[in-house]
Amino acid sequence: MSTTATLHLQSSPIDKEIENLIKSSKDLAVGVGEKSSNQFGPDPAGLDILPENTKERLLAAGIDISEGYPWKPDKSRVPVFLDEATAIRDDDYEYVERGKNADPEKKALFGAATAVINLTKHVGTEIVGLQLEDLNDKQKDELALLVAERVVVFFRDQKLSPQKQLELGDYWGRAERHPQFSQVNGLPGVSVIWVDYFRKSLGLNLTYKNNSLGNWDAQKNTVWGPQVWHTDIVHEKRPSGITHLHLDAIPNVGGDTSWASGYAAYDKLSESFKKFLDGKKAVYVSAHGYLDRKNPFSGPKKIERVHPLVRTHPATGWKFLYVNRTMTKRILGVSSVESELILNYLFEVYEKNADIQARFKWTPSSKPGYGTSAIWDNRVSQHSAAWDHEGNESRHGTRVTSLAEIPYFDPESKSQREALGLSLDEKDFF
Ligand SMILES: [Fe+2]
Repeated sequence: MSTTATLHLQSSPIDKEIENLIKSSKDLAVGVGEKSSNQFGPDPAGLDILPENTKERLLAAGIDISEGYPWKPDKSRVPVFLDEATAIRDDDYEYVERGKNADPEKKALFGAATAVINLTKHVGTEIVGLQLEDLNDKQKDELALLVAERVVVFFRDQKLSPQKQLELGDYWGRAERHPQFSQVNGLPGVSVIWVDYFRKSLGLNLTYKNNSLGNWDAQKNTVWGPQVWHTDIVHEKRPSGITHLHLDAIPNVGGDTSWASGYAAYDKLSESFKKFLDGKKAVYVSAHGYLDRKNPFSGPKKIERVHPLVRTHPATGWKFLYVNRTMTKRILGVSSVESELILNYLFEVYEKNADIQARFKWTPSSKPGYGTSAIWDNRVSQHSAAWDHEGNESRHGTRVTSLAEIPYFDPESKSQREALGLSLDEKDFF
């Protein structure tokens, strides 16, 4: 199910009237999160600023951009009411964790590569000499395990069509078909990550001054741009697992992305604090707002979903801290004051420890239509994209996110450092 089309909820005539009013309003950002027109389909305005290398890639993949690019979503299919939005992708299906039974030595994957380079001790690995489009299932399974262990894995100089990217995403989970995000023409599930376009065509108000304000309190203040530390799509029944961003237009300098490890953030905590957090649950909210059917004039409300605060990864079996500043709203079972204090501390552990992070410099390929891929595990990480190029050089990519398991916490599971036999010595800690 990709949209509201299969929802079973009934709307009353007054609901329909309100819904139509909202959808026709250019000032209300309910549901869609942007003040754009009702026009949908291929956007001719995007062609004016389409980077040459992106064009090469899209045309080589047979994507029809003759009438415009990207594909703007149909607002009439975007839910307005909270119950509709919450019901999206609430169905049951079996999720297969591809990394779970993969060869821990990853012989098929590493054997075919010319180099495997670790960016930092525990976060980030670059694989050289392999094309993602050529991977067989065994290699894809091993890559899923490597991503789960190393948090993020990079491949430069890739010839990767959006169709192949989607195929990979559907292999690693169910690729999320985002109902309100710009997409590659004809390919729901391949989201377009193109801040230049969001600014110029959709009116995204992103400037040098405001692109980090969300770091202070991202839920009370509007967050502009991707620089605030965050995790993609945490409010779903099955939040995102593997996410794959392929950039085909990259500034010569700037636009780096950083990732921080949730395993390592958990291991930064004292053993007694870990025990306190183990088994706790928290409320996670959506990025977009929707209306409460019973009280539509009270303004947009976010989808709220309860997940474990400490989760166990199904492939590695390691515990990790599942929080992020933009979407973790409240820890259950403690007072709101305690929740706020604890969450702010946990956000900072993630955001401020350089030894649990990796910063990646994307590099443009010399081959026409080629790009660079970052494949990360959204469960065990947060990321932040620097906007230091300020849109002066193009940055365009396509993103596919695979939704993973229903989050769980296994009290028998170990932390990463426990599992790897690394020191958890606390003698100088207190
Ligand atoms: Fe993101």
